[in-house]
Amino acid sequence: MAPKARPATFLSARGKRLISEKAERFSESVIRDMTRQAHLYGAINLAQGFPDFPAPAEIKRAAQEAIAADINQYAITWGARSLRHAIAAKMKKWQGLEIDPEAEITVCCGSTEAMIASLLAVTNAGDEIVVFEPFYENYGPDAILSGARPRFVTLHPPSQSDGEWRFDERELRAAFSPQTKAIILNTPNNPTGKVFTRAELEFIRELCMEFDALAVTDEIYEHILYDGAQHFSIATLDGMRDRSITINGMSKTYSVTGWRVGWAVAAPALTNAIRKVHDFLTVGAPAPLQEAGATALSLPDSYYEGLAAAYRARRDRLLPALRQAGFKTFVPSGAYYIMTDIGQFGFADDVSFAQHLVKEIGVASVPGSSFYSRPELGAHQVRFAFCKTDATLDEAARRLLALSRA
Ligand SMILES: Cc1ncc(COP(=O)(O)O)c(C=O)c1O
Repeated sequence: MAPKARPATFLSARGKRLISEKAERFSESVIRDMTRQAHLYGAINLAQGFPDFPAPAEIKRAAQEAIAADINQYAITWGARSLRHAIAAKMKKWQGLEIDPEAEITVCCGSTEAMIASLLAVTNAGDEIVVFEPFYENYGPDAILSGARPRFVTLHPPSQSDGEWRFDERELRAAFSPQTKAIILNTPNNPTGKVFTRAELEFIRELCMEFDALAVTDEIYEHILYDGAQHFSIATLDGMRDRSITINGMSKTYSVTGWRVGWAVAAPALTNAIRKVHDFLTVGAPAPLQEAGATALSLPDSYYEGLAAAYRARRDRLLPALRQAGFKTFVPSGAYYIMTDIGQFGFADDVSFAQHLVKEIGVASVPGSSFYSRPELGAHQVRFAFCKTDATLDEAARRLLALSRA
């Protein structure tokens, strides 16, 4: 959203404005653009958060079997029964929440669709949505498309490399008003790696109660946690069950970002509205892949332990390489990104640095400004994704060393 240049208004030969004001208010995703640039320059792609290693064999087999069994037609629009029941069982097990799979779950085309469908279902023109920044790029355009006005609250970077990004309670309170319809939360957080503590979520809960607001919470990195960090769903806090829309999906937990299966969990009245919007947006998520989702969500606990351990090893492989190359790193407690400070490289800004990195060094990253409404806040930051094989990370490390020799 804000950091990118606004494209010129497109007029027909007879002077009619053919592009909507909404579409003109944001430009294409910087993250996805960096992926294209990585292809163009033959760079290692540490920009976009997709794994370059295989998905678990049993999940792939379940998808193949579902297609072989001719599960090839539309699933129930709000999700295959087997997947909805698996989601409810998993939420009971991990969050202790009793969810009615018949009335409180909408399966969507990825958590991306679950987020926009949820916002479209609950917001009206003039409503405000509180968003922490840096934020996952999509939330800005999501707010614009849903007609709501985003109110940004800064997550301040830690002064120490292993400190936590924090919000100022007074700044957060000041962003809430009678117009606040919802706050968007993302924990574990992309791009900072912050995992919101229970105390922080309690503070947010109190504001939601006081201002009669919803929490729309993107928890797709819930199992990717380091150093003893614990994930809390705000829906489990007192009074928040029916005030939360909890969004999750298969992409990150099961390394299948291309399958496009995600979901929104919310109280029945909210779910009714989300289901209607979802139905008219996409009808439904891929039917055979939803069946494979039911298999995925039933994997034993050891799968999730292995997932977190493998990501910890990848994090600890890339961190020293970045430091050696000259970056100041912020150590993530969750998710699979490292935010860095590039102040010491002496570039004019993050975009020129990221361009240099992709063209001359051969590594694609994401300029920090793309995660902020005020680009200057990210002008000295770039983000690296480490959801990659050891070989990819080692080659990136080798190339990045050229920075320290420059
Ligand atoms: C915080 C966050 N939410 C959502 C997504 C997209 O998820 P999905 O593939 O389920 O649409 C991403 C992908 O990078 C993300 O980082």
